Amino acid sequence: MAGLSELYTEIARCQRCEIARSRTNVVPGEGAESADILFIGEAPGFHEDQQGRPFVGAAGQFLEQLLASIGLKRQQVYIANVIKCRPPNNRDPLPIEIQNCRKYLERQIEVIHPRMIVTLGRYSMAMFFPGKSISKIHGTAEKRDNVIYFAMYHPAAALHQQSLRRDVEADMLKIPSLLAQSKTVAEAKPKAQQLNMFEL
Ligand code: URA
Repeated sequence: MAGLSELYTEIARCQRCEIARSRTNVVPGEGAESADILFIGEAPGFHEDQQGRPFVGAAGQFLEQLLASIGLKRQQVYIANVIKCRPPNNRDPLPIEIQNCRKYLERQIEVIHPRMIVTLGRYSMAMFFPGKSISKIHGTAEKRDNVIYFAMYHPAAALHQQSLRRDVEADMLKIPSLLAQSKTVAEAKPKAQQLNMFEL
């Protein structure tokens, strides 16, 4: 399977949407290829477009603080967005842009193969929890095919609203135990299978 660097080259050449013409840089995502946790935001903003890196503005600083609250640095996780180009004036991503960019996110998930996918905000939540409302499901986890899906409010929204900030901070603190539980279950399995072999 091709790795992330091949994918980055492909994304850098992408001209499928109108917004490809106004971008300064594509923002494919960054972090550890073997990360346990994949965070998915919405779309690059001004600073991300300038630097070609996700979450480097005010929301990014807050995300780094949230990661530090659970003992993680951004290099230990993977951070991506639903769409890889900045929408002009930070408007919401259009359905066609989300559709055009979807294959890139799917390939990132395939390569990184995370144990946990954390959606940040409504747009990435809608991809993994269609039809759900973020105010109802934030901070709750769902396991499908051995991957934990966990929805959070977007850090940018939480920067401007104190009550959301408390929710985001509390939700982030749930991540380590969810991940630890999934590892225990996954690692217990081969041992159980081994025992069965000895019993035969
Ligand atoms: N908001 C996002 O959703 N993504 C970024 O990369 C920055 C801000």
